[in-house]
Amino acid sequence: MNIKILTLFPQMFNDFQNTSIIAKALKNQKLNLELIDIRDFADNKFKQVDDYPAGGGQGMVLKVDVIYKAIQSVKTDDALVVLLSPKGKVWDQRKAYTWSKKYKTIILICGHYEGFDARISNYCDLEVSIGDYILTGGELASMVIIDSVARLLPGVIKTESHLNESFNNDLLDYDVYTKPVVFDNKIIPEVLLSGHHKNIDDWREKSRIYNTYSKRKDLLKKAQLNLQQKNFLNIIKKDCKEEEN
Ligand SMILES: C[S@@+](CC[C@H](N)C(=O)[O-])C[C@H]1O[C@@H](n2cnc3c(N)ncnc32)[C@H](O)[C@@H]1O
Repeated sequence: MNIKILTLFPQMFNDFQNTSIIAKALKNQKLNLELIDIRDFADNKFKQVDDYPAGGGQGMVLKVDVIYKAIQSVKTDDALVVLLSPKGKVWDQRKAYTWSKKYKTIILICGHYEGFDARISNYCDLEVSIGDYILTGGELASMVIIDSVARLLPGVIKTESHLNESFNNDLLDYDVYTKPVVFDNKIIPEVLLSGHHKNIDDWREKSRIYNTYSKRKDLLKKAQLNLQQKNFLNIIKKDCKEEEN
C-alpha cells in the first residue's frame, strides 16, 4: 500500500517510520510512505501556505490554491484522497479493515492552524476524524490511521494476532495474563494453566463477552452473537444481577 502524506511538518514522522511494526512494514515493502511538504507548493517568496480568515476572526486558514497544487502533484487515478478533519466521519477498526483491503494508494492531507479553506473538500473523496477532540494538526491523526491500517496488511503481523482483537465482531478482547502466577495475592485464573484447550477457549470467549458487557454495552447492541456467546451473556447478566442484590 502506498500512503502519501501532505504535511507542513514532515519531521514529525521520523520516529514513526523508524519504530516497531511500521518500520518492519516499510522494510518488507508491504507499506510505502511518501512525505510531501505542503510548503513546497507555496508560490510566493515567503513560502506562505495560510492567510487570514475571510470575514475576520481568530487563526490562519490553509490556502486552497496551495493545497490543490500539492494534491495534484501526487494524485493518481486509484488514489483515495482524504482530508483529516474533526468534521469528518469518525475512524474505527471497521474502516481500518476496509481500507487495508480496498485501497492501493491513499493520500492523507494534514491540516494545521484554524483548518482548511472549505473549498479544499471539493478535491477530496472524504473527510476523516479520529475522534471528538481537537488536535493541533492532522499529523497525529494520520499516524493513527496509518498504524491501524498497516498492521492489517497481509504479511505485516500474523493474521492470528488480530483475529481476536478488540472490535472484531463488535466485541472487546479477552483478558490475558503472564508470569508470575501469583502477584500481590492475585492469581492467574486456574483454567489458563490447565493445558485444556477447549476449556481455555471457552473461558476466553466468556471473558470477551464479560469485558464487552461490563465496559462497552454499546458494542453489544451491534454484535452478532452465536449461540454459545448468547448463553455466556445470559449467565453473565444473571451473575451481575445476583451481585447487585
Ligand atoms: C486545530 S485543528 C482545526 C480545528 C477546526 N478549527 C475545527 O474546530 O474544526 C487543525 C487541524 O488538525 C487536524 N485535526 C484536529 N483534530 C482532528 C481530529 N479529531 N481528527 C482528524 N484531524 C484533526 C485537522 O487536519 C485540522 O485541520
